[in-house]
Amino acid sequence: MTAVLQRSLSQRSPLALRGEGPMLVLADGRRIVDASGGAAVACIGHGDARVIQAMTHQAARLAYAHTGFFTSEPAEALAEKLVGHRPGGLSRALFVSSGSEAMEAALKLARQYFVERGEPGRVHAIARRQSYHGATLAALGVGGHRARRALYEALLPVHVSHVSPCFAFHHRRADEDDAAYVARLALELDAEFQRVGPHRVMAFCAETVVGATTGCVAAVPGYFAAMRAVCERYGALLILDEVMCGLGRTGVPHAWEADGVAPDIQTIGKGLGGGYQPIGAVLVGERVVHALWRGSAAFSHGQTYQAHPVACAAALAVQTIVEAEGLIARSRDLGERLQTNLRAALSEHPHVADVRGRGLFVGVEFLADRAARCPFAASDGVAERVKNAALDAGVGVYPGSGTIDGVVGDHVLIAPPFNVPESLVDEIADKFAKAVASAFERVSA
Ligand SMILES: Cc1ncc(COP(=O)(O)O)c(C=O)c1O
Repeated sequence: MTAVLQRSLSQRSPLALRGEGPMLVLADGRRIVDASGGAAVACIGHGDARVIQAMTHQAARLAYAHTGFFTSEPAEALAEKLVGHRPGGLSRALFVSSGSEAMEAALKLARQYFVERGEPGRVHAIARRQSYHGATLAALGVGGHRARRALYEALLPVHVSHVSPCFAFHHRRADEDDAAYVARLALELDAEFQRVGPHRVMAFCAETVVGATTGCVAAVPGYFAAMRAVCERYGALLILDEVMCGLGRTGVPHAWEADGVAPDIQTIGKGLGGGYQPIGAVLVGERVVHALWRGSAAFSHGQTYQAHPVACAAALAVQTIVEAEGLIARSRDLGERLQTNLRAALSEHPHVADVRGRGLFVGVEFLADRAARCPFAASDGVAERVKNAALDAGVGVYPGSGTIDGVVGDHVLIAPPFNVPESLVDEIADKFAKAVASAFERVSA
């Protein structure tokens, strides 16, 4: 029996006891390589004494002070580290406790921006199909994953619509090059602005590199510049969600740096605190800060635990380690090694359709028929089977389904800590390839 409402009521999750670097130790004695860092969270591994010391020190010094009255040393230092150098014009940071909360705050910020500018008619967000922006109602509403939305559809915000994702592997036509594909997607976004009414749209939201819903899908070159141009044409904001792909996961500090387009508002999460504390953040561009400054001079949003001192101290320690140890370059280099190994081990497998990603943010997609690009039935539960086979082989990978249209399609995500030893990267690829073979034996059995 368990008194915890676990993710599954029918299957009891194994008990995780300890984390040691890239490994998780279970109560039954198994040692699992945390090859996806949970959900791309554990960027420096588990049990780092420096982070624990920073948290302990902060908890003893000041565990909590309400942000309606006070700011704190770690919040100030973390904000300075993240936006003190104004990356892409982002100049302020708001700290919350999760990626979903960061998206909620980002949407409210976009709304307030337009109200303060005297454009209260701007209420609509355009996002993309097969995206994920969080589990709370507004964040889920902006997300475009059909299966994840379905149960709550009646509760989701109505001022949201979705356009196609930039997913060349499935959706670029055979007669299109990247430029033609981007031009088609830009026309589609433009048409959606026209349909909604350009002066009703407040923002276009996208994950810079799509994570959980499609498995590490980066946009083709020129895509974000073209989407930014459409937003500029109609005066809307660009919100980039880097909750999963940000802060070095893709081998650059911000994933948008590889696309050459900075957002007006950016969300981050997971790798910010590396799992040591629940923390997410909204990074705010000067244009938005300036409008608030000239208007009410306050962001009308607050939560009890925002900018929690212990969470900020943990994130500051994690980010200091990432910087001091050159872990972002390591994520880039080891990511290439991981992809090369996975391709070598899996390219002949009839159901492995694609190995892709940037840095240590790698997706492997599965299809029933590679040539015909035909997925397995959702009821086959292929991603979950691969996850279970990998777990049996001692490797934790993160499964996703609905890859193609939000219902069918399967992938897994491999996203180990940036400081994973090289030998373990090779072991992950090796064990994962064996697990894939065994998973498909079970599917066809
Ligand atoms: C891109 C993206 N945005 C937002 C979220 C929500 O973050 P959280 O689960 O911390 O609320 C996630 C979580 O997977 C995510 O991948």
